[in-house]
Amino acid sequence: MASTVSHHGHLIDGHFVAGDEFSENRNPSNTDDLIGLYARGQQKDVDAAIAAAAEAFTKWSSTRPAERSAALQRISVGITAREAELADMLAREEGKTLAEATGEVKRAAATFSYYAGEILHAQGAVYQSLATPASIQTVHRPVGVVGIITPWNFPIAIPAWKAAPALAYGNTVVLKPAELTPGTSWLLAEIIHQSGLPNGVFNFVMGSGRLIGTRLTESPLVKAITFTGSSSVGKSVANSAVEHGLKKVQLEMGGKNPLIVMDDADINTAVAAAADGAFGSTGQRCTASSRLVVHDTIHDRFVDALVARMQSIIVGDARASDTTMGPVVSESELQQDLDYIALGQREGGNLAFGGTTLEAETSGYYLQPTLLTDTDNSWRLNQEEIFGPVASVIRVHDYEEAIHVANDVDYGLSAGIITTSLARAHDFAARSRAGILSVNRSTAGTDLHVPFGGNRASSYGSREQGTAARSFFTTTASIYTNPGEV
Ligand code: UN1
Repeated sequence: MASTVSHHGHLIDGHFVAGDEFSENRNPSNTDDLIGLYARGQQKDVDAAIAAAAEAFTKWSSTRPAERSAALQRISVGITAREAELADMLAREEGKTLAEATGEVKRAAATFSYYAGEILHAQGAVYQSLATPASIQTVHRPVGVVGIITPWNFPIAIPAWKAAPALAYGNTVVLKPAELTPGTSWLLAEIIHQSGLPNGVFNFVMGSGRLIGTRLTESPLVKAITFTGSSSVGKSVANSAVEHGLKKVQLEMGGKNPLIVMDDADINTAVAAAADGAFGSTGQRCTASSRLVVHDTIHDRFVDALVARMQSIIVGDARASDTTMGPVVSESELQQDLDYIALGQREGGNLAFGGTTLEAETSGYYLQPTLLTDTDNSWRLNQEEIFGPVASVIRVHDYEEAIHVANDVDYGLSAGIITTSLARAHDFAARSRAGILSVNRSTAGTDLHVPFGGNRASSYGSREQGTAARSFFTTTASIYTNPGEV
């Protein structure tokens, strides 16, 4: 049947070009389902894309904001017009449920629309010089060609929240999607292409991080790199980007996010937040609640109620209407999840629910949502990012211990507390070392118009999204004007 499988090429300088080599994109809910063949780029492809982006920059960077705004709005409309198709592709290649995938597609459309508006706002400030007659104006200029490297778990939302501000502020783009999930990103590239951007403003090259990603970090024509992925890859991206021309770098990496459940918590709120945070999107989110830090006096009630909730999670084909948790994205991710579950048990954890793969009508990477209890924060289980539907419970005896445990990890992306005490909620917000703090809600699921990012091993460089994106996608000039004699 290979002849009926469609081939997808790169978008370079306004044209889709066939590749020389292709990779299979398979459905994690049904590995017999070959979604398509996607080009595996070579150095010549990424070099051509970078050259096209560099060439297009002069013109695009001097377009009027109204023109860029209109282009972004057309992309937003284009995404919405194909929402069902995009969500189906996302669920099919990544394994999110259709409901989750639809939410992600809506977010991508809203992000383009947001930056279509954002670019119309005032873009600078005026100061009076402190001791001279000069007035000082600040302007925010585009950086140049931006290399965008995106992960498999949000194959449209993350490309959107990086590409939309990049384009809005007048940069040109070379985007490399994740190898595992190129399909949804390819459809986004098609929509962007059809929106009528000038040739070379947005380029899309698929392939390995080792080849395409590395080349983006090394090319002297690329001026900034924004990356979302693992902390280890992020570090090498940053090293290479700094080594090769001191590029601007923005990294969004892992998390090991705590959700504290205090003794005064509303139990339904706690269970809903933990279930969403730990098992939503099959736990494959950098904002996932992987450490549930639970006060001793509510511990048993909370664990029983969470296990009851987990029993009602329907694991199955991501596109089936009754499924509430899709498969893990790939065989190697599934193996990693199983290895961590086994490790957690060896370290002394008690398997309270899940832990095994599930058989379905189709061969897919189905894993039960999994909960380990009686775990210690110092264990590898609780220090390393798993990136799957696996959460552990750490019992604590008072609030001070909860705060200590929550912060005692290399990561610092997202953290939450479930409490009815306003005083504790405030204290938690002041003392947590994460960049995203949640009170009485899941640690995952963030708004598109506010800064996104964390601290320590989780993030590097300036924040993404909202108005915060401007610091990365522009460089500021301060213009001193002395009026002189009248
Ligand atoms: C969210 O929880 O709102 O890669 C999004 C990730 C994050 C996005 C999380 N950068 O999982």
